Formats: sequence, C-alpha cells, structure tokens
Amino acid sequence: MAKDFQAPRGFHDILGSDLKKFRRITSTIRELLKRYNYEEIITPVVEFAEVFERSIGEATDIVQKEMFVFTDRKGRRLALRPEGTAGVVRAYIQNRLYALRPYHKLFYEGPMFRYERPQAGRYRQFHQIGVEVFGVAEPHADAELLRLADDILKALGISATLEINSLGCKVCRPAYREALVEYLHVVANHLCDVCMDRKDRNPLRVLDCKVETCQEAVKEAPKMVDFLCDECRYHYARLKEYLSELGVSFRENYNLVRGLDYYTRTVFEAVSDELGVAVIAGGRYDYLVEEFGGPPTPALGFAVGVERLMLLVDEPPKDYELYFVIPFGDVHSYALKVADILRRKGKVVELSYRKGGLRKQLELANKLSADYAVIIGEDEMREGVVSLKDMRTGEQRKLKVEEI
Ligand code: HAM
Repeated sequence: MAKDFQAPRGFHDILGSDLKKFRRITSTIRELLKRYNYEEIITPVVEFAEVFERSIGEATDIVQKEMFVFTDRKGRRLALRPEGTAGVVRAYIQNRLYALRPYHKLFYEGPMFRYERPQAGRYRQFHQIGVEVFGVAEPHADAELLRLADDILKALGISATLEINSLGCKVCRPAYREALVEYLHVVANHLCDVCMDRKDRNPLRVLDCKVETCQEAVKEAPKMVDFLCDECRYHYARLKEYLSELGVSFRENYNLVRGLDYYTRTVFEAVSDELGVAVIAGGRYDYLVEEFGGPPTPALGFAVGVERLMLLVDEPPKDYELYFVIPFGDVHSYALKVADILRRKGKVVELSYRKGGLRKQLELANKLSADYAVIIGEDEMREGVVSLKDMRTGEQRKLKVEEI
C-alpha cells in the first residue's frame, strides 16, 4: 500500500476483538462511575498550547518533546491534548462550575496525543478515561479515589499494585528539593546524560529514571516523606489509615514522582503485575485551579490508560444469540418482514446479502457465529412459516415466526 495511505506511526485503528475489549473496559468503568455519581464532561481535543505548558510544566518530557503543537491560520499556537486534566481544569473555571456547588466530581473519556516512541500498549494517539474531583482538600477524598481505582482493576480482573507517595506542598517541597539537588550533585557521576540535565531543572524526575545506574545512585537519596510539613504528614497518614480500613492494599514507593508538574501531596500509580507499567495514574493538584485564574480549589484525579488495559483483559463473551435469515429465490419482501418481526421481538438478526446455495450460506452463518439460520424459500413464504436451523445441533424445524 502506498505509504501515504497508512495510518501515521503510533496511530492505530481499533476494531474487531480489540474494539470489544475496548468497549468492555470503558463500559465497565462507566458503570462504576455511575455508582460513585461522577458526571461526564466532554472537552475539546485541541486547546491553546499554553494550557498544557503551564500546567504539565515546561521542564517535563510531555511539554519538551511529546506535544503535537501547531499554529492555526491566525498564527495561534494550539496543541492536541496530551492528557485530560488541564482541559478539564480550564473548563471548570471557564464554565464557573465552582459557583454552582461546593465540590464537583467529573469524568471524561477520549483520545489523547503524545509524540512518544510507540511500543506495546504505547501509542501516539491513545485513550484515557479520567476522573477529576474539585473542591475537596481532605484525605478521605484521596482514599475514595483510590478505592475507585481499585474497584476498576477488580471489576476487570486485573492484578496490579497500587503504589502511593506524597510529594508535599508549597511549604515543604522547596526544602526537600534543595536537599535532593545537593544529593544529586554528590552522585552526579553515576547519573545518565538525561538525568545530568534533569538534576537541576526537574530533580524529582531523576528518582524514577529507569536507567540502572541512576536507580542505584538514588537508593540513598533523601525521601520526600521525611520532609513533609505537619499538614502534609497528617494528610498522608490519614490516607494510609483510610485505605487500610477499606481493605485497599497499597505499597509506598518513595521514588514515585509522576511525569507532570502539577501534583501536590498524594500521587499514585496502579502498576500492572504482568506488564510492569502503570495502567492507572494520578494524584492531587491543589494549586492548579488557582494557577489557571480560578479560586483556590484543591483537586485530585486519575486517568486510566485504555490501551494498556486492553493488553490485559479478555474479549467479553458473546451475550446474545444471532439469527441469520437466508432468503432463497424471490422472497425478499417476506424475508425483510421476518427479520423485522424478529428484531421487534428483541432478537439480533442479520439478513444474508450473500448470493448462492445453502452450503455457502451456512458457511457464512458459521463465520458470523450465528446461533440460528432462518431459512426462507418460496414454500416457507407460501405457508407463512420459516425453517429454523439450530446451528449447534443441526436440528431443523418449520415454525411460524411468532413462535420463535
Ligand atoms: P499519565 O500518567 O500521564 O497521567 O497518564 C495516565 C495513564 O495513561 C498512564 O498510566 C497510561 O496507562 C496511559 N498512557 C499514558 N501515555 C500513554 C501512551 N502514549 N499510550 C498509551 N497509554 C498511555 C495523566 O495523564 C494525568 N492527567 C492523570 C491525572 C488525572 N492526574 C490527575 N488527574
């Protein structure tokens, strides 16, 4: 095929069995979100680039090298959204949702775009379902959010480990950052080139570098949890208590820092035991709404990576019976009516468009995994009946459509 007619690298079609998995994931999550009374929001796929640059952070990988940025006809810089949170925060403020209610629980579903190196479960266009809670500072909201993440994993039968950490706040993080930078300078000759660059600009990111020498070098690094101010320490301790009381198991990972700059206090990732990568990730971002020009509003949320989960779930079993209506001869108007009646009775019906003899028709019925063939010839039409063939047993009998 001409190269121009292939999907661009990292962009993929979702169809067939994969799409069934995709829908199973999204409908299972939507069902759960209903129980938690989250309200859906749809935001644009395109925002001003600045919306992402200012929230995700200028020094992050996403902003530095992964955004699809373009200028429109008037020279304005726009970007395909690399994630959902920034747009939802922008919408929360623009629509003055804060004026309506003391707090909000929103969810979204849709494609995100990042110019990353594609690999299994990693694409340049991928899909997230995300939730965002606005206006709650207390740790019981964090606990409930993690309960929801845990519920999602359980409902989909995915085994993953919930890793949590606290990144502190404006009060306590600066001192930690200073201590970390100091430490990183001491171990600098063990750091990879990327981390050499990161250690001053975005030192926390060095903690979750995947390069072995870096991992070794940060083993003795100061931990944020040891620097937490009283309020952050209380918040984190309460969260852990609530989780234990709820029976949500978790593991503390002091090196969990996340790749986006807006986080404060709680951060977490659900890491698939099978794949070793995060399938759900999120945390608190208590300053972002204010930084965007809204009123001070603590907030938290997470996003589920749908393609990542698709690697882990099975295709859902077929939950309906398919009736394949096969017309022979000039019986189309009768066949259309039969299909109509069956559908009105709630059956799933496909009217065969194939031409040819019974053998070919039944071959097609098998290909479609039909449960019944509804055979209609001129005799059947005259008698006002159909021949119903059970595709599994091969048994066939004549009966009135109403009797099916
Ligand atoms: P994130 O960690 O950048 O967080 O992405 C969340 C999840 O999206 C990841 O854990 C992963 O499963 C999936 N994901 C990310 N990049 C790709 C990719 N290139 N291909 C396939 N899947 C991918 C956020 O996006 C935050 N907005 C989450 C959040 C919401 N924090 C607070 N509220």
